[in-house]
Amino acid sequence: MNRSKRPASQAIGAPFSLSQPAAPKPGEGGRERAGVKESRLNEGHSAIPEGERSDTATRLPNPFLLVTLHSIVEPLVLSQFFSTSQPLEVELGCGDASFLVDLAQRHPEKNFIGVERLLGRITKLDRKGRRAALANLRGVRIESSYFLQYLLPPHSAHAIHVYFPDPWPKKRHHKNRLINERFPALAAAALVPGGKVYLRTDDPPYFAQMTEVFDAAKQFRISETPAELAGLLTDFEKEFSARGIKTLRAAYQTMD
Ligand SMILES: C[S@@+](CC[C@H](N)C(=O)[O-])C[C@H]1O[C@@H](n2cnc3c(N)ncnc32)[C@H](O)[C@@H]1O
Repeated sequence: MNRSKRPASQAIGAPFSLSQPAAPKPGEGGRERAGVKESRLNEGHSAIPEGERSDTATRLPNPFLLVTLHSIVEPLVLSQFFSTSQPLEVELGCGDASFLVDLAQRHPEKNFIGVERLLGRITKLDRKGRRAALANLRGVRIESSYFLQYLLPPHSAHAIHVYFPDPWPKKRHHKNRLINERFPALAAAALVPGGKVYLRTDDPPYFAQMTEVFDAAKQFRISETPAELAGLLTDFEKEFSARGIKTLRAAYQTMD
């Protein structure tokens, strides 16, 4: 399944070119499994109704929960987005944010940020979050590793969730994978001591790479996914589960 359509360099709210791979083409980063929501192939911009589509952030329909980036080099000032200072969790590549909206509703004592590069998907975070009147959820449309490295304040997150990132199955595209040998250091710099990284994928070779880089990272040790979290399925995960496609999980924790 092709998971992405439009590169972030064309992103609303991100009118700059970031160092990142282009969005996967069919047969590259996206899923090739027949029948898994083929409708997503053309999803990129389609969540915004005709007539409301726009290429400028100012014309997004009331993007209340979406963070407008005034700087791409200064870390976010979290107090500008959340009225209550409380533990922060981040989902990278949050898709349509159904998982994150669910989690934010269950945990009003935490703040959540969803990061996603596709407009059509991050707009759903905004819509669902506003519908649920969530004051503890925000979305940022940007590339995930850039967000981790430059925008998330150091040691500010209690958990980072990465669920079903694009697997880039061809060997020559492995360099585009989000979870690579650089990722644990970026995650460790963003997490508080004892902070967690939760990983899920349906791609066994990518899972092997994920666990290899985290097992080798001196900043992390193996942890567990709490039962409540384990019971919450993401949107893609529900589809895989419905089709009997096995998924894999791992959790790591930074050293205290
Ligand atoms: C397969 S979907 C999974 C979505 C969601 N996590 C789930 O499990 O339902 C992967 C998502 O990550 C987004 N994505 C892929 N690479 C990204 C990157 N480097 N930065 C931000 N978002 C990215 C894609 O646009 C897509 O929405």
